[in-house]
Amino acid sequence: MEYNLDEIIDRKGTNSLKWEFMDHLSSRARETTLPSWVADMDFACPPAVIDALHRRVDRKIFGYSSHDTDRYWEAVTGWFSRRFNWKVRRQDLVIAPGVVPAIATLVKQLTGPGEGVIIQNPVYYPFARVISGAGRSVVNNPLVEEGGYYSMNFDHLEKLAREKSNTMMILCSPHNPVGRVWTREELIRVGKICLENGVILVSDEIHFDLIRENHRHLVLADLFPGEDRIITCTAPSKTFNMAGMQCAHIVLPREDYRRAWMGERGHEMLNPLSIAAVEAAYTECDGWVDGINRYLDGNMAYIDRYVKERLPLARHRISEGTYLAWLDLRGYGLSPKELGDRMIEKGDVLFDMGEMFGPEGEGFLRINAACPRPLLEECMARMEKALS
Ligand SMILES: Cc1ncc(COP(=O)(O)O)c(C=O)c1O
Repeated sequence: MEYNLDEIIDRKGTNSLKWEFMDHLSSRARETTLPSWVADMDFACPPAVIDALHRRVDRKIFGYSSHDTDRYWEAVTGWFSRRFNWKVRRQDLVIAPGVVPAIATLVKQLTGPGEGVIIQNPVYYPFARVISGAGRSVVNNPLVEEGGYYSMNFDHLEKLAREKSNTMMILCSPHNPVGRVWTREELIRVGKICLENGVILVSDEIHFDLIRENHRHLVLADLFPGEDRIITCTAPSKTFNMAGMQCAHIVLPREDYRRAWMGERGHEMLNPLSIAAVEAAYTECDGWVDGINRYLDGNMAYIDRYVKERLPLARHRISEGTYLAWLDLRGYGLSPKELGDRMIEKGDVLFDMGEMFGPEGEGFLRINAACPRPLLEECMARMEKALS
């Protein structure tokens, strides 16, 4: 391994949400609580990103800056092209401070009051929040779970898509928290169902770089050439551990969508440090991401072994993508509240509990496996203690 991903970096005193603001999730978290909740990594950013930031800091002035340069957009589109063979026109790209604010804007602009937006629980909970926040209806097409493997309920989706009041779907691809990397067949089916029924598709692909060894991520929009009603949300934040840089890239291939976007968000600009970080990440860090993926493969295998050897009532299936593991603890017969209480009080470890992702997640919890192995070992030991 080129980089020492086993290194434990002290994040306290850096304003880390994950380590210092656990009270955002639980008022019972303590100084000693081990955080495995919010999805950021405990790995250092790639050395090339850190060097680029140092160089930019040395230029001493941090005034208004624009990312609208050939260098910037070539870095972004070059990444898409190299990693996914996905060719994106610069004119189709806009930036946002994050994927969640971008989705909030899209829901508000491209759907009408009271219209339905389809999501698939259990799923990343801010989707439901931004839909209701905009005064739209959350329309659920729950995923179907069989032996720990999740798939989409296409028949039900078709029924929902046919209802005229449902005008948008947010696809999570790869899917947080269940870790599915959707296959070509699944993506084509979901795309066809939505597009044939006039449902705009927002595909949140923020986790697209973090994929297990034997899987491959396909960009939904790339499977529908010439189709302009698929919007793709991407960001370097999960991939390079720079969520705090607050930068997302949204591909809006349709002109009237872009006009509406510009009308509301205007010509947003990135800050100078984000610009430097993104350019370095997307031009110099392919090898680093490959290394992270190999390390995550190892962490996921570790979790799987641990569960099989030491948590006989738990069920786990290695996720196909993301750095999140989805653990089924229904076998312990505890209520969601009891499970959450045990983790925080007896185990002194903080997870996003399954019910946060919708009632379909009750009895599950989500592990953030993007950490040095010794931290993951500690996390699993604390979970075992909580369940003992
Ligand atoms: C599926 C998904 N979308 C979006 C986000 C967050 O996006 P941002 O921080 O860019 O708003 C996350 C973070 O965990 C996520 O898992």
